[in-house]
Amino acid sequence: MVDSTESNALEKSSRVKSIQGCISENLSLTVASSQPQFFDPQPAKIKTIQVFRWNPDKPEIKPHIQTFKFDMYWLIRQSPMVLTALIIIKEKLDGSLAFRRSCREGICGSCGMNINGVNTLACTCRVDDNLSKTIKVYPLPHMYVLKDLVPDMTHFYNQYRMIRPWLITK
Ligand code: FES
Repeated sequence: MVDSTESNALEKSSRVKSIQGCISENLSLTVASSQPQFFDPQPAKIKTIQVFRWNPDKPEIKPHIQTFKFDMYWLIRQSPMVLTALIIIKEKLDGSLAFRRSCREGICGSCGMNINGVNTLACTCRVDDNLSKTIKVYPLPHMYVLKDLVPDMTHFYNQYRMIRPWLITK
């Protein structure tokens, strides 16, 4: 019999090993260890996400789609949104992934991107529980790309300035 604190610690350590395995095995997650378990671990729920990548500092590498796999467990612990998945990828799998975000609650609009063909906010777009469905993430269309999922907002802000969306005093 294992108390819940010890059980949580064991589960956490098991998941950390799993993520470390994933880093060393070229972005593919492994289910944790064959070590004896004192509890029944949750089976890993591996979700696939495909992300548009392009780095202007490496012009020899053309724009391409990169596939990542992550355990839904990491989302459930935080929030089940696509932005959280991208943050997890950046923190645990590939720190070079670039995207914008700020408020993380659907207000600022900085995490706007194209997810599964829909222009939306990554912080309010829920990750589908269906593990067989791949998430596809691209930068907003019809805009120049600065890097990965970061569009160039220059044209947008020029147009925004033209309509003068602010109060004008006499
Ligand atoms: S981070 Fe502000 S709207 Fe998504």
